[in-house]
Amino acid sequence: SKDVYVLGIETSCDETAASIVKNGREIVSNVVASQIQSQQRFGGVVPEIASRHHVEQITLVIEEALKVAKMMPADLDAVAVTEGPGLVGALLIGINAAKAFAFANGLPIIGVHHIAGHIYANQLMQPMEFPLLALIVSGGHTELVVMEKHGSFKLIGETRDDAAGEAYDKVARVLGLPYPGGPQIDKLALESEEAIEFPRAWLEADSYDFSFSGLKSAVINYKHNIEQKGGSVIPSHVAAGFQQSVVDVLTAKTVRAAKEYGVKQVIAAGGVAANKGLRTSLEAIFKDAGIPFYVPPISLCTDNAAMIAAAGTAMFIEGKRGAMDMNGKPGMQL
Ligand code: KG4
Ligand code: ZN
Repeated sequence: SKDVYVLGIETSCDETAASIVKNGREIVSNVVASQIQSQQRFGGVVPEIASRHHVEQITLVIEEALKVAKMMPADLDAVAVTEGPGLVGALLIGINAAKAFAFANGLPIIGVHHIAGHIYANQLMQPMEFPLLALIVSGGHTELVVMEKHGSFKLIGETRDDAAGEAYDKVARVLGLPYPGGPQIDKLALESEEAIEFPRAWLEADSYDFSFSGLKSAVINYKHNIEQKGGSVIPSHVAAGFQQSVVDVLTAKTVRAAKEYGVKQVIAAGGVAANKGLRTSLEAIFKDAGIPFYVPPISLCTDNAAMIAAAGTAMFIEGKRGAMDMNGKPGMQL
């Protein structure tokens, strides 16, 4: 049968991205315009500023994706775009660009859930095997999802407060580290020879939910106590203790879920899946359990449009089509 080429567009948060993917598995081009410099200036994502960046970048990024692929719009089969969740103003810029491109070129449009995209990033590396368990850990998400087949997502656990990446970014700020804090804490933690003992939020015995706000408060209290006595904290010791607490809980709940659901494959996705401590811990535990475990390379863990094109291709093949009156869905359910 004929090859399927899908243009993916992603603008849900702070990356303006476009990518062309062949048959949902092969990256032909993958362009990401990051706003990281402006966020470092403001210490995080400011929605209005993010939207302005998307407006400035979106057309250029789509043109670049076509140019790198050496393709014309007529070579494409569909346009896939992140429909939600995310910042509504940011989502709308991608959606409107996708609609205009699809309309001008007579292509169908497909709305993709951002988390489905993170999960399908793995399809760009190896085929999915079902049942599959996905751990999604990013700046906005901490979720455990079971998939029985393509397009079917069962949410079995999620954070009750902060997302894992959010906790990383907040603790980094407490330690005076620049944004985004995840990679900084990861680096300090790996270098540290000591780790401060912080609590682990296991919640109810059978729960796959997560909670990170208590851990964040524990770090803040620890720092206040030391400083009140006239001392100062050693950032690497705090980073190591914080990371160990996060990694322990994520690893234990993921392996318990993998066994309970009898999955054939476990994947990690999202920006925090780039964490070296987490990768090492998950790799070791799944090697022990004899369950194949995969994490995409870092460039496909963080937000990108290839993952949206990959997820969109699976939907396209199933015959799903979006409508031209598609709207941004900030609280979209998986
Ligand atoms: O998936 P992503 O690029 O954007 C969202 O959809 O949120 O994830 C960004 C998050 C940030 O919170 C960042 O601090 C975190 O991923 N992150 C990390 C690492 N690299 C990025 N967290 C821990 N360790 C890392 N190495
Ligand atoms: Zn993301």
